[in-house]
Amino acid sequence: MKRTVNIALAAALCFGAAHAQQHDHAMHQQHQAQAAKATRAAPKDTRQAVYFPKTLREHTLANMRDHLLALQEIQEALSKQEYDKAGDIAEHRLGMSSLALHGAHDVAKYMPKGMQEAGTAMHRNASRFAVASKDVGATGDVKPALAALAATTAQCVACHAGYRVK
Ligand code: HEC
Repeated sequence: MKRTVNIALAAALCFGAAHAQQHDHAMHQQHQAQAAKATRAAPKDTRQAVYFPKTLREHTLANMRDHLLALQEIQEALSKQEYDKAGDIAEHRLGMSSLALHGAHDVAKYMPKGMQEAGTAMHRNASRFAVASKDVGATGDVKPALAALAATTAQCVACHAGYRVK
C-alpha cells in the first residue's frame, strides 16, 4: 500500500518536473530579462552566482577548458602506461604547481569560502595523483593513482554543482 502511494507520488513528481521544464522552455525568452536579475527565477539552478570581473571571468573559463584538456591528456597517458607523464601533466596544469599559472591569488578573493575550499582540494588531490602516478613505476599498482584522480575530478563536480560565475 505504502509502496503504491510512493510510486504514484514519484510519478506525479516526475510529471511535475517535465511539465515545469516545458513551461520554462516556453517562457524562456519572456523571462530572460528577469531571470538575469533574479537568479531564483530559474528553479532548477540552485548554484550560487559568484561575481568575477570580466577579464578574470574569461581567464578563469579558459583555465577551466584547459583543466578538462589536462584530464583528457592524463587519461591518455595512463592508457599508454606513461605514468610519469600523467603525473607531470597533473602537477603542472592542475596541481599545487599550477596555482601561480592560474592566478589563483587574484581569483581567490572573489570566491566564497566553499568555492575556495573546492579549488584547494582539487589542487591538493591533483598533486597527490602526481605522486601516486609516479609511484606506479615502482609499485606496479595503478589503483592509488586512479583513486587520487577520482578525488580530483570529484572536486570539479563539487564546485560546478555549487557555483557559477556571473
Ligand atoms: C573552485 C571551483 C571549480 C573547480 C574546482 C573547477 N571548476 Fe570548472 N568551472 C567553475 C565555474 C564557476 C565555472 C563556470 C560555470 C558557470 O558559470 O556556468 C566552470 C566552468 C568550467 C568549464 C566550462 C568552461 C567554459 O568555457 O564555459 C569547464 C570545461 C570546466 N569548468 C572544467 C573543469 C574541470 C575539468 C575541473 C576539474 C579538474 C574544474 N572545472 C574544476 C568552477 C570550478
